[in-house]
Amino acid sequence: MSINRIGVLTSGGDAPGMNAAIRAVVRTARANGVSCLGIRRGYNGLINGDVVELDARSVDGLLVKGGTMLYTARCEEFKTEEGQKRARDICRYLGIDGLVAIGGDGTFRGALDLSRGGVSTVGIPATIDNDIACTRYTIGYDTACNTALDAIDRLRDTMQSHERCSVVEVMGHRSGNLAMYVGIACGATAVLVPEKSVDMERDIFDRMRDGRIHHRNHHIIIVAEGFGHADAIAKDIHEATGVETRVTVLGHVQRGGSPTARDRVNATQMGAAAVNALLAGKTNRVVAAVNDGIVDLDIEEALALPPVFHEDLYVTTRQTIL
Ligand code: F6P
Repeated sequence: MSINRIGVLTSGGDAPGMNAAIRAVVRTARANGVSCLGIRRGYNGLINGDVVELDARSVDGLLVKGGTMLYTARCEEFKTEEGQKRARDICRYLGIDGLVAIGGDGTFRGALDLSRGGVSTVGIPATIDNDIACTRYTIGYDTACNTALDAIDRLRDTMQSHERCSVVEVMGHRSGNLAMYVGIACGATAVLVPEKSVDMERDIFDRMRDGRIHHRNHHIIIVAEGFGHADAIAKDIHEATGVETRVTVLGHVQRGGSPTARDRVNATQMGAAAVNALLAGKTNRVVAAVNDGIVDLDIEEALALPPVFHEDLYVTTRQTIL
């Protein structure tokens, strides 16, 4: 099937770099003589026909902006057969031959449903959690880490002044990948992730005691939100070591900000790859970063993969941080 009009939407939790991906989709489509419709508010917008024509000029200045110009939303109606039928009817009515869906696993399940209904679809992995099994990298991950690092570097100043321990909770949903990436980058004393059990005495308290013997007067403990219990961990640390401890929950600040170069480049490459896959007649695909390249693979195969845990990062956190 020839592609004459592409729709693009963002769905699920937003991520810095989504705008860069939208920009690349629009520019690549237009460069190939294909028109482009922005669909606002994810699959809600598709069902309600909430669309805006996008051309090369519509995305000027978008590369550097966090968030998503198309808004995002979670859509319960799209999980129903009538919602999916309405979305397919809207695609036909608007002349959308191909759809690029930017988001996480839930976004790809929606794209799969549309593909089964005859709409060519390609997904782009975008979430700060980097927890999508088929790809080593998801858009937003590096920016979220750098945002957390900026906050942790500020925390370090005051922890040093007061010779305290800072317990920092980072996002990641049920994954510890973001926490490990941040932990290595900030030189944390310990990183706690939901995928691994922890021996508080060995993994935290003894490390802190050893550190103090070597004149390390402050400590950063990174806790993935999926591990939780940051307040209880802080209390236990104080009781076990006598070190004053404070808790900081970084929360949604990790979801904002101008994307880093890594996110801008990844998002641009993935956006272009998604359009090129549609133009090559592919459907039901998701683009992915694999072995330093950008590939596309079948959505059903991608969704069937087991949850991803970056064991190599975990090994590094065990070997190199104190
Ligand atoms: O999936 C991205 C994410 O930021 C998770 O890290 C976090 O747990 C979740 O979204 C928060 O969801 P919401 O923005 O709906 O509160």
